[in-house]
Amino acid sequence: MADTSYMARKSVADIVKSADGGERPLAKTLGALSITAMGIGAIIGAGIFVLTGTAAAQFAGPAIILSFILGGIACAFVGLCYSELAAMLPVCGSSYTYTYATLGEVFAWIIGWDLILEYAMGAATVAVGWSGYIVSLLHNLGITLPPRLAAAPGTMVKLADGTSVGGLVNLPAVFIIAILTLLLVMGTKESARLNNVMVAIKLFVVVAFLALGVFFVHPANWHPFIPANTGEFGNFGMSGILRGSAVVFFAFIGFDAVSTCAQEAKKPQRDMPIGILGSLVICTILYIAVAGVLTGLVPYGELNVPDPIAKGVDVIGLTWFSILIKIGALTGLTTVILVLLYGQSRIFFTMSQDGLLPGLFARVHPRLKTPHLSQTMIGAVVAIVAAFTPINVLGEMVSIGTLFAFVLVCGAVIYLRRSDSGANRPFRVPGVPVVPILGILFCVLLMTGLPLVTWMRLVVWLVIGLVIYFFFGRNNSRLRHPERHVG
Ligand code: ALA
Repeated sequence: MADTSYMARKSVADIVKSADGGERPLAKTLGALSITAMGIGAIIGAGIFVLTGTAAAQFAGPAIILSFILGGIACAFVGLCYSELAAMLPVCGSSYTYTYATLGEVFAWIIGWDLILEYAMGAATVAVGWSGYIVSLLHNLGITLPPRLAAAPGTMVKLADGTSVGGLVNLPAVFIIAILTLLLVMGTKESARLNNVMVAIKLFVVVAFLALGVFFVHPANWHPFIPANTGEFGNFGMSGILRGSAVVFFAFIGFDAVSTCAQEAKKPQRDMPIGILGSLVICTILYIAVAGVLTGLVPYGELNVPDPIAKGVDVIGLTWFSILIKIGALTGLTTVILVLLYGQSRIFFTMSQDGLLPGLFARVHPRLKTPHLSQTMIGAVVAIVAAFTPINVLGEMVSIGTLFAFVLVCGAVIYLRRSDSGANRPFRVPGVPVVPILGILFCVLLMTGLPLVTWMRLVVWLVIGLVIYFFFGRNNSRLRHPERHVG
């Protein structure tokens, strides 16, 4: 029977059934360790390699360490909520699917639309980070790219003679997105093994930076630990820590992407919480340590550069180590872009199958077996955005969009406990509703750290999404109009 109300929702039982059997059941091969590795693969990227430096220089100073702690606490509450939903509804589509089963179609659409900020805009952000490191690495190798062609308008680039020019277009970011889109279209999906190797390289680089860097720290750089506020909200002082935490929150994004593989977990009830929370804990510890060492190596005011970790390594004075770090950072950033571009096409795929997006987003190439049209369109849009938008604007949009999605996910846990109290919950968040409520409060707190203009961009984005829903999704939804989707 068609449900024509706006609150039309999929039933939990149906979702679980489709996950268990379905037409193409996925092999259950992932253990807790692989899931943790996948999480780390998706988490460590531009957040730590780029935004830590810019946030320390502009907002928090050495107290960026506290910003990371605040971000980590928020993510821990949200991570628990994701674990419950991922184990209970082990399906692709992540929070989009959870919302479809809880708050109904209109909210599911909003979250799916909002996830574009996390995935597509996230990929653009990381690509801009990649650009900063490749420019720096090529410079080490004696190749200097024209600075104006490696930065977006609105970004000032320092020239060798000490003067600065504004950027025109970020071509290296376009390049990496084009290459990875091509790989995804051709069907080069990250295999668990390749991913493990890349994660190992990334972890090695981060740990090596810590192990060597710690010997070159000048404790004087940590003073003042919380620089005095300049009189403007978010410019140092307590509000600066909050603003910094909203910005570096970007560094934690990705643990939620793990929930999309719940169908393939051997024991979702055990492996999902371990994978999600384990990767979060490891990354939080590394982030706090990197933030401490980096601000100890370089006076925080000098960290507003496209490759802050490399700047930290320059203090150590070993050129080969600097090159190694840059190669490692590039590897790490590449895996994150790949996961985000891939994730975006799969979310569109699910939304298209539900009739909320045009059918071409679910069209699969007969030979390559990939959603080639969708992937190419996503690649083109992400490349254009990365070419012309500064990283701080992108990063803040991704953070606010993701925090908003997390608020809905925490709400979904509370809602489902009432609406579907009898459903099988292999993992249960302790202390409901306190823990999800704390998750909501911490996410909203971080959102308040972002500037008004970012809030306005989010509102405009959501309004555009709603207009599309009312003109397209509402009339085409499979749930509301099953007769239009026969065959
Ligand atoms: N957390 C990911 C990063 O820092 C998105 O790049």
